[in-house]
Order: sequence, then C-alpha cells, then structure tokens
Amino acid sequence: MPDTALLLGGTGSLQRTAELLATHGWQVTVTGRDATAAPQDWASYGIRMVVADRTDEQATATLVGGGFDLLVDGQCYTPERARELARWSRGCGSTVVLSAKAVYVDGLGRHLNSPHKPVWDGPVGEDRPTMGYAGEAYRSAEGYGANKAEAERVLRAEGERVSVLRPSKIHGAGTRQPRLWGVLARVLAGRTRMAVRRGDLVESTTSTEAVARAVLACAQSPAARVLNVADGDPRPARDLLAETIALAGGTVELVDVDGCECPEEVGRLPWTLDMVLDTSAARALGVTPTVFADGAAAELEWLRSLARRAPDGTWRLPERLDVGWPDLAAEDACLDLVTET
Ligand SMILES: NC(=O)c1ccc[n+]([C@@H]2O[C@H](COP(=O)([O-])OP(=O)(O)OC[C@H]3O[C@@H](n4cnc5c(N)ncnc54)[C@H](OP(=O)(O)O)[C@@H]3O)[C@@H](O)[C@H]2O)c1
Repeated sequence: MPDTALLLGGTGSLQRTAELLATHGWQVTVTGRDATAAPQDWASYGIRMVVADRTDEQATATLVGGGFDLLVDGQCYTPERARELARWSRGCGSTVVLSAKAVYVDGLGRHLNSPHKPVWDGPVGEDRPTMGYAGEAYRSAEGYGANKAEAERVLRAEGERVSVLRPSKIHGAGTRQPRLWGVLARVLAGRTRMAVRRGDLVESTTSTEAVARAVLACAQSPAARVLNVADGDPRPARDLLAETIALAGGTVELVDVDGCECPEEVGRLPWTLDMVLDTSAARALGVTPTVFADGAAAELEWLRSLARRAPDGTWRLPERLDVGWPDLAAEDACLDLVTET
C-alpha cells in the first residue's frame, strides 16, 4: 500500500509539494475551494483534487477521517484552526503546517509588520523569540504573525508529530501572490530601464521547491520540530531582480532611485527586509538546499503561460491571481528625474 498524504489548501504554494510527494510514490489528495485551480497535468501524477473549505471544520474532519500517513495544512492561520489540526495530527503518521517567518521578534520586540522594522545581528534561527498573542485579528498587520505564533504554541502543546515550517516569501509556480509578475510584466512591455529602491537589502527567499523538499523530509522522519525553510543563496534584492530579468529573457538597465522624492512604491522590489533565515536545521535533517532560480524559473514559465494581452495593450493574469499592471508612467517620471539630476 502506498503512503497517503492529504494537503489542505494545496493548489497554491503547495503545488510543487503535491508533485514531489507523488513522484516519491505517495498517494496524494489535495483540497482547495476551486477545482479549476488544480494543474491539468495532475492526473498524470495521480494527484486527486477534492473541493473542501478548510474553514468548514466538519467537512475537513470527515475528509481526514481515520488519518493519513501525512497531513499538510497550508491554511492554518489561527489558534482555532491549530486546535483542529492538533486533534487530527493524533491520527496521522506525521503532520506539517505552514507557519511563517512573520512570527519572529527582534530584541526590541519588533516584527516584520511593525512600523519600525526589526534589526537582526545575523541569520535568524528557530530558537529566536516569537510574537505574543492577545486575540488580534489574523488579517491585520499586527495579527498575522501573532496568530501564527500562537497557532504554533497550540500545535506544540496539543499536537503529535507536528513539523512547523517557517518559510520566507514564497515564489514558484502556483503561488497566489506571484511576486515576480511585476518583473515579467516589464519584460513583456519591452522596458529597457527599471527603477530599484533599496536594492542592497538581503531577504531570504523560499522557493516552492524548498517547501516541497522540507515537507518530504519531515514526512520521512515524523517528529515535533520547527524548521526555517529558505533557499540556500540569499543575495541582495538587486541581484535577485537581475537574475529574474535574465530568466525572463529581458535586457533591462537597473537604475537606483534611493533618495529621490518619487512615491515610495516606485522601485519597490518584492524583497523589502534585511532578514536571512538560518537553514542549518533543515540541512541537518537532510533537506538539499535549493537556489532562488529553482522557483523563479518555474514561476516565470507559469505566469507566461497564463498572461493574456488586454485590448489596451497591457498584459493580464486570470482574475484569481490579478496583481494588476505596474504603474509604468510613474516609473518613467521617476527615472527621468533621477537620470537628469
Ligand atoms: N506566500 C508567501 O510568501 C508565504 C510566506 C510565508 C508563509 N506563508 C504561508 O503559506 C501558506 C499558504 O499561503 P500563500 O499565501 O502562499 O497561499 P497559496 O498557497 O499560494 O494559496 C492558497 C491555497 O489555499 C487554498 N485555499 C485558500 N483558502 C482556502 C480555504 N478556506 N479552504 C481550502 N483551501 C483554501 C487556495 O485555493 P482556493 O483559493 O482555490 O481555495 C490555494 O490552493 C499560508 O499558511 C501562509 O501563511 C506564505
């Protein structure tokens, strides 16, 4: 009998995880609210898609039934959801939950959604303190990391064999926040210059491949643990941008616009924090490090396959992914100002 895996909320960042498990012989079931979000080639992997809302406790509990060899929850945002997951974990061989690096606080209690950004004295390890929780709404700047941190505590106290993964910003095919779209959009528009703000920041990236490898490693060694999950090649944001442009097939001059008085959004890159995750614990578990390009190439190929030209000449993504068309006029105004002075 093959090992069985159930991925809750698995048609986005967990797409690659479903595929990696399937290629390792797992019998994979994925849930989501929209069956059409499942890639068409999943049938060839033998991956089964079931429509079920994670917020419907009864429906999800019925699906979990007597348990799976592996249960992965990509939609655990609150302590309430964590309590459900902890209960289900007791009937499963192992359980993996997607938490986030947003749980970490620095020595002054600052976190990544604070008005003042946290300052780190080196790569951030899993033993760093995490946010407190006082009932904040999870869909808020203060509440996202606080709820995740409390969910982790619930799972540690009440769950069994639960691996908590803390990714940085995730990129790859299928993600619902396709952060590389802004770059591909500019390449599609034939841009030759691009504004760059704060290009020196080094923020860890997490490819969906990194998530997939970490999930597989956890499934192969069930235990209660916490793991940072990130690519093994953290680099300045400007370098990640240049690599993304090259992967997208573009030739674009990068122009630093730090210090100009143009709106802050102009030149804002997907990587906005100085924060590198220490991934030595994942490596010690046997997770082979990924590189940024592993997810970037896959995300760009996927976005290109979905992008359609609108009558006004701009390129658009399907509605469920629509992150808009960049404000190229504002960028041009800024570039003209910066290169004139
Ligand atoms: N993306 C990042 O940069 C990032 C970074 C750190 C941590 N995380 C964590 O990773 C997890 C995934 O977040 P994401 O932003 O990357 O999203 P995602 O996985 O790209 O997309 C969300 C997935 O969950 C499904 N989903 C959403 N609501 C659902 C519900 N109520 N019931 C069942 N399925 C549902 C979506 O499909 P349908 O909409 O079709 O249902 C989709 O498959 C979250 O726990 C998040 O906190 C993400």
